[in-house]
Amino acid sequence: MLNDLAKVLLTKEQIDTRVAELGAQISRDYAGKDLVAICILKGALHFMADLTRQITIPLSIDFMAISSYGAGTKTSGVVRILQDLDSSIADRHVLIVEDIVDSGLTLKYLVDNLSSRRPASLKIVTLLDKPARRAVAIAPHYNGFDIPDEFVVGYGLDYDEKYRNLPFIGVLKPEIYQK
Ligand code: PRP
Repeated sequence: MLNDLAKVLLTKEQIDTRVAELGAQISRDYAGKDLVAICILKGALHFMADLTRQITIPLSIDFMAISSYGAGTKTSGVVRILQDLDSSIADRHVLIVEDIVDSGLTLKYLVDNLSSRRPASLKIVTLLDKPARRAVAIAPHYNGFDIPDEFVVGYGLDYDEKYRNLPFIGVLKPEIYQK
């Protein structure tokens, strides 16, 4: 796997430090509130597991699995729910946990969908943000790192379902995805 990487973009130590900061900030901001953290599968799995362990207030966790309608139509913003939440989010403080915001289309869909369920509040935390790629005006409330427009993998992020288990964020060599 390591031979497929052009470089390491964010080390495990850099990620751990930033995730701890985000956890502390979220713990302060949601103190006394009924917080539910929603992991958007699959990419946010690792971030979710680490972030929630850095949050020191009580919370619930839930999961959503979504998919864009085929790779070719990803930019259409049409999203399909593969697995929905277990529990109601009505009147609860909802935090969407994402690994990366790219075009923003996935997030726009999620915000529209979850807002209609009448949460008390709805915010977004993402580990990575690629602002250069944004196609719709949407911004995460909490953001681990702004990153350049490079093909990143690891810490949950995949190429062709591989590399998610790398403990850091790396940049894939172009020859791997241009094959
Ligand atoms: C990734 C990521 C976000 C979305 C961001 O998911 O986890 O959900 O793409 O892209 P956007 O801002 O352009 O909409 P992906 O569809 O790759 O699924 P995965 O999390 O299962 O890998």
